[in-house]
Amino acid sequence: MIIAIDGPAASGKGTISKRLAKHFDLPHMDTGLLYRAVGFAMRDDLDHPNWEEKAVTTAQTLELSHYHEDDLTTAEAGIAASKVARVPEVRAALQTAQKHFAHQKGGAILDGRDIGTRICPDADVKLYITADAHARAQRRTKQLNDRGVDVTFDEILAQIEKRDADDRDNPAGAFYVAPDAHLLDTTKLSIETAFQAALELVNSVL
Ligand code: C5P
Repeated sequence: MIIAIDGPAASGKGTISKRLAKHFDLPHMDTGLLYRAVGFAMRDDLDHPNWEEKAVTTAQTLELSHYHEDDLTTAEAGIAASKVARVPEVRAALQTAQKHFAHQKGGAILDGRDIGTRICPDADVKLYITADAHARAQRRTKQLNDRGVDVTFDEILAQIEKRDADDRDNPAGAFYVAPDAHLLDTTKLSIETAFQAALELVNSVL
């Protein structure tokens, strides 16, 4: 069974994916981490004239285990990830590992932006998880404040809107909703209710 989960930043797709993976005892890949690792590795080089070439080499030789998750989950790594994700050869280099993971024996859950459209167009279940930018910014601000990070709602909302805009006009055309994806809008849902709704959608197609 392959479950493909897509959606914008802070939509709840990560938490829902992890919980579905636990529920169905399936391996899970957060594909955003691959782009974040390339972005993080490239953080000091993104203004260089030939940065794309270096980003492609970084993607081709990426060893995710060499990175610390704390470095990859920062807002800066997210913005750098969006930038490197616009390079078609970077996307191509990261595709192989994702497709391989998806097609392992027993199935898998992957979450990202193009899982249902490009990585696993053959997925058994596709979910597109979204929420309005305000709700996403509120959740992310609370998450960071709870971790002791001093950020304001306005800062986070601006970051989320910037990343949405960058992702929306990605020239690699990566982000559109698969026509056969089930839409789940989590704007007004608690994470528990959102998970239950996702679980019902998955169960309804199995
Ligand atoms: O999901 P997350 O917010 O961690 O992703 C970081 C960035 O990586 C996204 O804003 C997007 O630009 C890029 N990404 C992508 N394709 C994926 C996953 C993430 O282009 N499958």
